[in-house]
Amino acid sequence: MNKERQQPVKVATWSQLTDRRPHGVRVAEVDLVVVRHDDRVSVLEGRCPHRAGKLVGGRIDGELLICPFHGWDFHCGSGVSGGVEGESIHRFDAWVESDAVWVDEAAVRHWRSVTPQAFADDEILGPDDDEPT
Ligand code: FES
Repeated sequence: MNKERQQPVKVATWSQLTDRRPHGVRVAEVDLVVVRHDDRVSVLEGRCPHRAGKLVGGRIDGELLICPFHGWDFHCGSGVSGGVEGESIHRFDAWVESDAVWVDEAAVRHWRSVTPQAFADDEILGPDDDEPT
């Protein structure tokens, strides 16, 4: 295991991840989305930069994660939006080991501490707040 990974935390069971279906998990008070593409895995910030919609309800179209609310798209490999110039979601370092997907909780916590959040938890769009399109 990489020495730079200070606090490995399991975010999914690899063999139970449905291919190309967003899986939601919360680490260090941050919503994350785990996406499996064949033998690759992406762990991304789980809230959309548009109106902080929860991306776990989104869908995968090719390599893109599509927000369920207003359709913004983000490349699973980079987090960069293809359709909205200058927008992106953070992609966290993740790895598969012992049938689990791992991220470094310390890295997630650090990202949270240096990344201003535009919305409080109770302001974030979710299934109870707005209907996905
Ligand atoms: S909240 Fe994601 S596109 Fe609007």
